[in-house]
Amino acid sequence: MTEADRTRERLIETYRRKAAHYDVTSRLSPVPGYPQHGQRLLAVRALGLHAGATVVDLACGTGLNFALLERAIGPRGRIVGVDLTDAMLARAERRVEAAGWSNVRLVQADAAGFDFPTGVDAVLSTYALTQVPDRGLVIAHAAAALGPGGRLAVLDLKIPSVTPRWLSRLGVAVVGVGSSASLDEWIARRPWEEIRMAARSSLAETSWAELCFGTAFLVSGRVRG
Ligand SMILES: C[S@@+](CC[C@H](N)C(=O)[O-])C[C@H]1O[C@@H](n2cnc3c(N)ncnc32)[C@H](O)[C@@H]1O
Repeated sequence: MTEADRTRERLIETYRRKAAHYDVTSRLSPVPGYPQHGQRLLAVRALGLHAGATVVDLACGTGLNFALLERAIGPRGRIVGVDLTDAMLARAERRVEAAGWSNVRLVQADAAGFDFPTGVDAVLSTYALTQVPDRGLVIAHAAAALGPGGRLAVLDLKIPSVTPRWLSRLGVAVVGVGSSASLDEWIARRPWEEIRMAARSSLAETSWAELCFGTAFLVSGRVRG
């Protein structure tokens, strides 16, 4: 088993445990009152969606972005929600059924190996990609799947550049990246920088914004051509 396989297994186990309470606990993450909904709204706006658009939500979890996406694309649009963890997708399915959306397809897959459908107008990923080992590859594949003018937006947490190390550790421990070792690795690796670079090399007109005192970032861009 490779290191990437082990990380994948650990993530699945973690999110199987979290799935049942994810919608409630995520509202308290990274701290109660954190403007997660406002950040999601910014990410969806960055996609420039139109009625009838097809959007892929990578690592969609329980589908917390779906209502915002539905509002933007309407019933003629299409959402494809992709996630690694069966239990998170089961929650997403319940959300879709409860809302009566008939234009959502849920796929259990690793974002890095996902076979994108044709005609994708936009790809979104929120609060997930910094945990995915192959994040650069995920962005390259997503960009390749987008048609001309298609847009990608990635929103996730980061460590503010000027934060003392002890405060970073405390903050990320609250977020729950995982074990102490993976937390150290997350901080040391600065995965948000890798994501920024990957977006810059695969997309045109990228924009990078630090949100909430540098505790989150939104990177977005448009496909060349
Ligand atoms: C913190 S949750 C975020 C869920 C959702 N995007 C949101 O904004 O609420 C992280 C999600 O990423 C998923 N995930 C982790 N690694 C993944 C991968 N390699 N491919 C697809 N999904 C992955 C987990 O199963 C989990 O549902």
